[in-house]
Amino acid sequence: MKEKLLTYLVCPACSVPLDLSVSSANGKEIVEGKLSCATCDASFPITDGIPRFANLHSLASDKQATAEGFGWQWQHFTQEDPRYAEQFLSWIAPVTTDFFKDKLVLEGGCGKGRHTRLAAEWGAKDVIGVDLSVAVETAYQATKDIPNAHIIQADIYHLPFARIFDYAFSVGVLHHLPDPHAGFVSLSSKVKDGGQVSAWIYGAENNEWITRFVNPVRERVTSRMDQRILLQLSKIPAACMYLATKLVYGPLNKNGKRNSLASHLFYNEYLKSIAPFGWREQHTIVFDHLVAPTAFYISREEFESWWRDIGATDVQISWHNKNSWRGLGTMT
Ligand SMILES: C[S@@+](CC[C@H](N)C(=O)[O-])C[C@H]1O[C@@H](n2cnc3c(N)ncnc32)[C@H](O)[C@@H]1O
Repeated sequence: MKEKLLTYLVCPACSVPLDLSVSSANGKEIVEGKLSCATCDASFPITDGIPRFANLHSLASDKQATAEGFGWQWQHFTQEDPRYAEQFLSWIAPVTTDFFKDKLVLEGGCGKGRHTRLAAEWGAKDVIGVDLSVAVETAYQATKDIPNAHIIQADIYHLPFARIFDYAFSVGVLHHLPDPHAGFVSLSSKVKDGGQVSAWIYGAENNEWITRFVNPVRERVTSRMDQRILLQLSKIPAACMYLATKLVYGPLNKNGKRNSLASHLFYNEYLKSIAPFGWREQHTIVFDHLVAPTAFYISREEFESWWRDIGATDVQISWHNKNSWRGLGTMT
């Protein structure tokens, strides 16, 4: 943890600044220590460089299962990919790289920290990536040498911040929460007036084949499996997807004339978008879909109501790959 992070943190229960005591440091990096609240006596350990606001053992069972699955995933699939920047921008469009300059940024559910790192590199004043699971260990390793990037372990529903952020984003996280709407409200409540919020979620529309046929298998079988077994088993659908994208979707979408043929293919927009990725990334995507115990598929109508509920203005919602929704709005 960098000492600068302390200026942004407050007690999640009583919202007062926290006191820091350091037991070990490595140069400027605080490795072990404690954050304490003088008002309510709560204290939060800093271990292995990460402030810990969530106790995984005292979580409700659904959250614990989600944290276990994703924690394992992001400690295994730690690879970086040069296409992440373009993919991230597609999830938060119409936001561009320039938008991050000098902003104080919050990421809800940072996983392995790939987007925290990009936001920092694109010039954010500071970016704080939050995740509930042990994915924070990977995120911390990926960002600890970047002076304007910070990682904390916390629950999106109990964030240790006041309303200080210029921008908050959450990519692929809210639909995995037990109450996605409440997670969205909690994240956006940390953005100051005039600041912006971005969210990307799975859509209900065009995903009926997943909700009818894949979800029952995910809920009853794959999300309950030992992750090492799922890792091997998920290679079968991943291999099918990999071959389809490399042999059919990628080539057919490459040139203009064939595009009209490709547009008739099943799930073309999505499979076209992942066709450039290699085996490991495609395997990550399939594993990600099968490991989650909770996944909601949210309609545009419902997503629109979330933005009304937070009182956002200038809301721009758009269809992403014809299977998911992305939104950007301004807090007032
Ligand atoms: C599909 S991953 C997406 C990670 C990252 N946004 C990305 O795109 O690489 C979902 C992440 O949400 C995190 N998560 C789930 N429930 C959470 C909660 N209640 N609070 C914070 N993070 C949570 C998981 O641990 C996981 O890392």
